[in-house]
Amino acid sequence: MKTNFASSTLGRKFVMAITGLLLVGFLVAHLSGNFLLYQKEGSLFNAYAQKLASFGVLLYAAEVGLVAFFGFHAYNGIRLAFLKQRAKPVKYAVTQSKAGNSKWGLASNNMMVTGSVLLVFIVLHVIHFKYGRGLAEGYAVQVNNEEARDLHRLVVEEFKKPLITVLYTAVMVMLGFHLRHGIWSAFQTLGLTKENNSNKIYFVGGVLGVFLGFGFLTIPLYIYFFV
Ligand code: HEM
Repeated sequence: MKTNFASSTLGRKFVMAITGLLLVGFLVAHLSGNFLLYQKEGSLFNAYAQKLASFGVLLYAAEVGLVAFFGFHAYNGIRLAFLKQRAKPVKYAVTQSKAGNSKWGLASNNMMVTGSVLLVFIVLHVIHFKYGRGLAEGYAVQVNNEEARDLHRLVVEEFKKPLITVLYTAVMVMLGFHLRHGIWSAFQTLGLTKENNSNKIYFVGGVLGVFLGFGFLTIPLYIYFFV
């Protein structure tokens, strides 16, 4: 049977690593913007959302890229999980790496679970906020003497609902676990981990993953309790 690199196990892992790291880049940018929600009046966050919207066609292009990255990442993850499932009867005598399999085996096995939750979350999240209430529903504010969407009001109203805050917090914990393992796994696939620096790289991936998960998690909690 003819097989090419993209549909080989290695090829799929490679696509997952590259798209995963690009998505981490998006999350760093998204979290940086969301930190503006710490300003209680909301003018900074609304100005930021307005600025983003003003990029027009460039923003659409970035969004198409983002959807493609999420799509490739999820599709290849599901395919790899199926392949792994099919190959299950074969037990390896030697595990692939110390950090990847023994101490961190649980995180690795849970990638499909956390990944699936995140996929559902992203679809609902975008419907919830990006396509949520806006100018037509009276969520309007003046930004630089122009009428803009009051996105801050929407986010605050939503995170004042206990159920939404609890759900977001739970998903952000999963995000932290997914990233903690995923970032290191991507480094390993790309050959950045050598015997002598494997633990250090794992640590860096772990810190970044936990920082992002924790950073996102603080926002609904801050709004629920303090705004
Ligand atoms: C508590 C944490 C989060 C908050 C407060 C938040 C807030 C928002 C808001 C307000 C928007 C709409 C932006 C706009 O219309 O200009 C948005 C869009 C989006 N968010 Fe989040 N977000 C959070 C976490 C996440 C996470 C963890 C992910 C991914 C795993 C994510 C992925 C997205 C995506 C893909 C979009 C659509 C971006 C676009 O099309 O421009 N968000 N978020």
